[in-house]
This record gives sequence, structure tokens and C-alpha cells, in this order.
Amino acid sequence: MHNPYWKLIEKNRIDFKKRRIETLFEIDKNRFKNFSLKIEDLYFDFSKTNIDEDTIQNLRKLAETSNIMNKINSMFRGEKINITENRAVLHTALRNFNNNSLLKNSKVNKTLVSRYKVISKFCNKIRNGKKKSCTGDKFTDVVNIGIGGSEIGPKFVTRALSEYHNGPKIHFVSNIDPSDIDYIIKNLNPNKTLFVLSSKSFTTTETIYNSKTAIKWVCSKLGSDGIKNFVAVCSSKERALDFGILSENIYEFDEWVGGRFSVWGPIGLPIMLAIGVDQFKEFLEGGSQIDYHFKNEEISKNIPLTLALIGFWHSTICKYSSRAILPYESKLEYLTTYLQQLDMESNGKSVNLSGEKIGYPTTPAIWGQIGTNNQHTFFQFLHQSNQIIPCEFLLGANCVEKKYDKNHHSQLIINCIAQTEALMLGLNSKTHHKEKNENVDLHKYCEGNRPSTILLYRELTPKILGKLLALFEHRTITEGFLWNINSFDQWGVEIGKTIAKRLTENYKEDKVRNFSSSTLNLLSEINKLKEFKDYE
Ligand code: F6P
Repeated sequence: MHNPYWKLIEKNRIDFKKRRIETLFEIDKNRFKNFSLKIEDLYFDFSKTNIDEDTIQNLRKLAETSNIMNKINSMFRGEKINITENRAVLHTALRNFNNNSLLKNSKVNKTLVSRYKVISKFCNKIRNGKKKSCTGDKFTDVVNIGIGGSEIGPKFVTRALSEYHNGPKIHFVSNIDPSDIDYIIKNLNPNKTLFVLSSKSFTTTETIYNSKTAIKWVCSKLGSDGIKNFVAVCSSKERALDFGILSENIYEFDEWVGGRFSVWGPIGLPIMLAIGVDQFKEFLEGGSQIDYHFKNEEISKNIPLTLALIGFWHSTICKYSSRAILPYESKLEYLTTYLQQLDMESNGKSVNLSGEKIGYPTTPAIWGQIGTNNQHTFFQFLHQSNQIIPCEFLLGANCVEKKYDKNHHSQLIINCIAQTEALMLGLNSKTHHKEKNENVDLHKYCEGNRPSTILLYRELTPKILGKLLALFEHRTITEGFLWNINSFDQWGVEIGKTIAKRLTENYKEDKVRNFSSSTLNLLSEINKLKEFKDYE
């Protein structure tokens, strides 16, 4: 049975259907002020959504009566809220060990502090050349081998902070497609390349295959000593040792750090190598400041919580099936991928905490692209298709690259804001033509009334990036609380692996059976193509 405010919010939706967003600014002259929130160098404007005063009050009441603040605190206290894996969810501890976290002076905290010191020391030695390759060379390149949360976070943050790089060049290998690792290592010198094998489980097929290929490549050039150029980041030291990694080169983290939440800890080593320990600390500090805000700010001023209520409104109540992520910053080119795993692996669920099937939509599909490039790929769809897609814009007021003509960046800002206006007002709107008693050319007509939000930030520094990531993490987690689902497991990823394993076992012995006729015929067509020689 839904919370009574859920029912009221569904009624708000019926009322809203007849209303255009821009009319809300006439009803409330202070709408911009009343529908935006600010924390220091971050500004969140949600005034261009189809949410009116009554709706936002009902959404906030829904949060209040759903006990959200207690659920948030139980997470920070380390309670085992990941019920299907019987684990705590404590990635926040990875960025709070210096602040007044709920875990200060606890055993957990002491372990995190000592691990952080060890990995920071390692990072400094690589960057200053005190820890050298087995050949005595200084490391000039680092290759991270990992996939999912063991790649996406580090890759996204390393790219986003490219202006802060002053260490070895960082490369990422993830796909089992051999061209992925080939593309990277064929231009590298094994004498000067450090490999970081990143895998929480240290069992992921792609990472195991790629790691074996990398070890074979290095040791074929440098001999067995080559293994000294490999470090492992994982939650199972035994598995890394069995794999052949030297004990002193293994950096552990705990089972209660979910893969998609792991960038803040040892999985973030490639970032630390690229930008240094001090800037990585700034990144952690940004996340920690948002933790404090999330835990302590009242519902009406709580930005991640408001983001979650808007997400709930758009997906569960308005039934908008996807969310477009539109960062107007090239350095955030991997943000969409990061949010795809964060939201769709956390909340792509249809069973509640009691194990019952749920009938309402949870997370929307997440997609998007950097602006202004997105204006040349799918903005036609956003403006003139029949589907309404809530748009999430991000925009920096300043660019980190100061050396270029200011008009570059001002055009980026202008384009971003213009799109939010166009999505709301439309173009050649019917009212415009009605006043002029003209016929509307529907080929050129844009209905508008498309909701959007915008997250403004001062500049993409390590601290502000940390704030943005923590905001998105807490939005996802709060949405999961509202949907009463477990956002911290990912059983859905196992089915593909299981069938792939069965295929692998049969495929080799050529005893493939118990598969659909489509699969069996596909396999035989593949074999024909493998034999096919177009030069015959
Ligand atoms: O995609 C499934 C998943 O388990 C993710 O949750 C995880 O980030 C990724 O695979 C990689 O797992 P591991 O870090 O254990 O290699």
C-alpha cells in the first residue's frame, strides 16, 4: 500500500497535465528563488520542471513520512542495509576518515587511515621516481586493467581532472575484446609501464583475461621479474596472491564498498597517480562536505534529496522512461557512463526489500552526451519527438583552461542556457501564432513544456568534482529508499555470466546443446564466417 502522499502526488500529476511550465513563473513571481538551492560554489535550479508548490510540498512530505533521514543515518552508521548480501554500505567512510564521521576512532576508521597512508606513500614514490620499474626505469605510464566500477569511476575522474595531471600518463583497458589491450600496450614501453589490476572480486572474466595477457607481454620482454611492475587493488588479497601478484603490491578494500561506489578508495589509485595525493584529498574533501550536507540539511534545503524527489516525480509519477544527462563540459565526457552504472545497476530493480514484485517504474534509462555536441546528435529528438525526456544539464561558470579566448566559454554557457529555455518555451508555440491569428507550420513547431534542471558549479576543480559525484551517489541512494528497493546489490548481472560460462564450456568441446535454435544457428554462422576467405 503506497504512502498517502504518494497518492496525493499522483493527483498533482493529473492537475499538471493541463498546465505549461512557464505559467508556474506567473503563479509564483519568486519561482526561481523558491525552486533552486545553493551550497557555496554549487547552484541547483529546478524551476524549469513541471513541479508546482503543492507538488514539491507533497514530495517533501513523502520523504519525511518515508523515514528517509533515518535510512540515511543507518547507512552512515554502517548498518547492513545491503540486505541480500548482508553487508554495510560504507563507501562514505573512504572520504570521511579525517572528519567527524559517525565512525571516527572506530576500528574501521583506523584501518582506512592506515591503508590510505600506505597507498599514498606508494603513489608518491611512483610519482617522484623513488619506486622504479624492475628495469630501474622511472614509470612514465600506468595501465589500469578493470571494468565496471573498477574502471568507470577512475576513468571518468582522471579525464575530468585532466588539467591537474602532473604524474605518469594513465591508460585504461577494460573490454575482453583483444583490440582493447592491444590498442594501449602496442605503443607502450614495458620497462616504464606500471600495471594496476583493479577488481574488487578478482574473478571478473574480462579483468582476468586482460591481466594474464599483460603479464605475458611484460614478462616476455623483461623476464619473470616483470611481475614486479604489477600491483593489484581488490577486496580479496588471497586471490591476488594466487594470481601471482607480490604481497607488498596488493592494496585491499572492504566488501562493504560497492563497485560503483569505489572510486574514493584504492580503486581511485590511477587518479591519485595522475593528480597527486594532495589533489586527490581535495576530491575526497568535496565528497565529504556533501556527506555532511546530506546527513544534516533539512529536507527542503537538501540538494541530493531534492534531486531524488525530482527523479521520483519524473520516473515513477510522470512515467518518463529515461533521463538525459547533458554536461556542458568536455571533461565530463564519461559522466553519462558513470551515471549509467550508478543509477541503472543500483536501481534497475523490480522487487522491493520484502522480496515482492513492484508495479511502479523505478530508475529511468540513463543516456546523454556532452554539450554542445549533443545539439548536433539528439536535440532534434528532444525538441520535436512525442516523448518527453527530463533533461539534466551541468554547467561550469568558469573554465579551467584560462588561456583561450573568453568567447569560447561564453558561447558554451549561452548554448546551455538557451537549450533549457527552448525546451520549456518551445518555438513557434501555438499561443504565439494564435495571438497573430496565423496557421502553425507543424513541421517547424516545437511544443516545449519539456522539463529540465541545471547544476551550476564555479569551476571543475577536484573538490567540486567530489561534490558532484557525492550528490549523484546520494540522489541514487535516496531514490532507492523512496522506491523501497535494495540499491546495493546487482544480481541481474549474473545471468549473462552464467550462460556465457555454459557456452564457454560447451563451445570448446563442440558439444553445444540446450540453447535456443537462434543461438545454435548463430554459432554455426559464426563458424562459417570464421572459415570464410574472401580472397578464394
Ligand atoms: O557489473 C557487474 C560488476 O560486478 C560491477 O558491480 C563491478 O563494478 C564490476 O562488475 C567489476 O567487478 P570487479 O571489481 O569485482 O572486477
